[in-house]
Amino acid sequence: MSNPIQRVAVVTGAARGIGAAVARRLAADGMGVAVLDLHEAACQTIVEEIVAAGGRALAVGADVSDEAAVTRGVERVVTELGAPSVLVNNAGVIRDNLLFKMTVEDWDAVMNVHLRGAFLCTRAVQRHMIDQGWGRVISLSSTSALGNRGQANYAAAKAGVQGFTKTLALELGKFGVTANAIAPGFIETEMTAETAERMGISFEKMKELVTAQIPVARTGKPDDIAHAVSFLASEGAGFISGQVLYIAGGPRN
Ligand SMILES: NC(=O)c1ccc[n+]([C@@H]2O[C@H](COP(=O)([O-])OP(=O)(O)OC[C@H]3O[C@@H](n4cnc5c(N)ncnc54)[C@H](O)[C@@H]3O)[C@@H](O)[C@H]2O)c1
Repeated sequence: MSNPIQRVAVVTGAARGIGAAVARRLAADGMGVAVLDLHEAACQTIVEEIVAAGGRALAVGADVSDEAAVTRGVERVVTELGAPSVLVNNAGVIRDNLLFKMTVEDWDAVMNVHLRGAFLCTRAVQRHMIDQGWGRVISLSSTSALGNRGQANYAAAKAGVQGFTKTLALELGKFGVTANAIAPGFIETEMTAETAERMGISFEKMKELVTAQIPVARTGKPDDIAHAVSFLASEGAGFISGQVLYIAGGPRN
């Protein structure tokens, strides 16, 4: 069902994986969608799909950790699509290693994209939400926030996203803006496929091993996350704020 008001959403890291599924879903929900990723050309396929399905979308190239690029990107969204009132902080990278082998570059790369990126994008978009008296900030955390071997940087960043979200909920609530985090377990994307490759096992084998640990007996798909984003971004979800929704096919990661 279409929204009565045409909302504009910015989805970061939307050229592939979870972000692409979220962009398609919010467009199907009736929103105009800015498909933002490192390179504008990489966003074009998703934009074309959305437009072919009758939706509105704009490809925006920006590194979420670059303050000037984020400012420029959001200005383009305002001019070419309309003032955004939904932000999905989804862009992410992994640089896994055991602590004793983790370089400062591995640490900084992960902090910059997940934390600095979420901060810069939210700060750039919140003004437009406040002007509209309505907004939804949805940020991707992870079950790794609870601790995960080989992911000291990523776990710290994803736990940081939860603290960031709860603080946004406190500061922005009175302006009609909610903030929530989604913490997925294993979702089939290029990110998890690359992890399998790094571990020296096939993706099929990895999925089999992971599935054995998941109560619903399957791995997650990007659409599982897009469905939750759609719910949290909906008009009726205005009394849900500061929450972390774990989506892992069961009660544990
Ligand atoms: N796949 C999983 O199992 C899983 C589980 C929990 C959380 N997550 C989180 O969900 C989000 C999406 O993950 P995914 O699996 O779709 O990953 P992915 O690697 O398939 O896609 C991530 C996207 O983010 C983009 N990106 C990276 N750095 C960027 C930057 N600086 N600026 C703009 N865009 C940038 C990439 O280009 C890519 O298109 C990430 O935040 C990830 O940490 C994924």
